[in-house]
Amino acid sequence: MADRLRILVVDNEPGMRLGIERALRNFTVQLLDVDGEVFFGIESVECGEVALKKIEAAPPDILLLDHKLPGISGLDVLHELAEARSEVLTIMITAYASLDTAITATKRGAFDTRIESGNRKRDLQELDVSEVAKSCIETVMPDANAKKITVAFQAPGSVRMIADRGELEIILNNLVSNAVKYNREGGRVTVTLTARNDQVRIAVADTGIGLTREEAGQLFREFVRIKNEHTCNILGSGLGLSIVKKIAALYGGDVAVESQADIGSTFTVLLNRASAAGDQEGDKPRRDA
Ligand SMILES: Nc1ncnc2c1ncn2[C@@H]1O[C@H](COP(=O)(O)OP(=O)(O)OP(=O)(O)O)[C@@H](O)[C@H]1O
Ligand SMILES: [Mg+2]
Repeated sequence: MADRLRILVVDNEPGMRLGIERALRNFTVQLLDVDGEVFFGIESVECGEVALKKIEAAPPDILLLDHKLPGISGLDVLHELAEARSEVLTIMITAYASLDTAITATKRGAFDTRIESGNRKRDLQELDVSEVAKSCIETVMPDANAKKITVAFQAPGSVRMIADRGELEIILNNLVSNAVKYNREGGRVTVTLTARNDQVRIAVADTGIGLTREEAGQLFREFVRIKNEHTCNILGSGLGLSIVKKIAALYGGDVAVESQADIGSTFTVLLNRASAAGDQEGDKPRRDA
């Protein structure tokens, strides 16, 4: 007799819900302790609030949970489930999140976190970097407030360029979250956007623990984490800055750091305003993406 595993998908993007349903509809697995093949029964909802009600009424076997949802976030859902001692196996499926989100999700009981990665089609369009920066700053404010850190934003109004919004979010989320994470109680973070003729400059300055010249020289490679008395209790995977560097390169740009130990750091990303759209035929903006 065939068994069925119940999967609940929580994602506000219809494309994501449909994609998962299509991928799993005719997919079966064989499990050691089950005779015959196991099918998946899939149900999808758009927000965390509805998901929690469904889980309370009839817990699924597996929960596929997005982080950025219209109401409460995926991390909030995880928190509620942990409070209710739910044993649903949860996998976070989240695009563009910072790695901190993945780590927090795992700490709150998620079995695994899949961050959408390179296979995604880039969606290049003209957008306002100021607007993206403001939304990334909002995301980090709970952590900043917890450490009484003020976050200032300086930009000459809107700063327009051709870019993939998700890629800009990854750059800004990682730099701003680092500036908070490696800062001191009561410190300051300043995010400054500057538009030059053909380039956009994103500078994220902090009054945090800073880096020695040797430490600064090691950054931007995968899994590099500086180990000293300031960082020993801070969690991270050492991937954020290497990803920032890779994305900057997609825009013909780069990332650099200026820092003084115990005083603070400024990370600067330069992006060409139009190069991402013009370089490769395959990367042109797509209406159907
Ligand atoms: N603003 C900063 N001030 C001081 N040190 C920093 C700053 N940003 C990054 N670092 C140092 O660089 C290392 C690498 O940063 P990176 O963002 O790549 O990884 P992470 O923050 O450790 O983990 P994650 O992959 O979760 O971002 C950090 O571990 C930290 O030692
Ligand atoms: Mg980081």
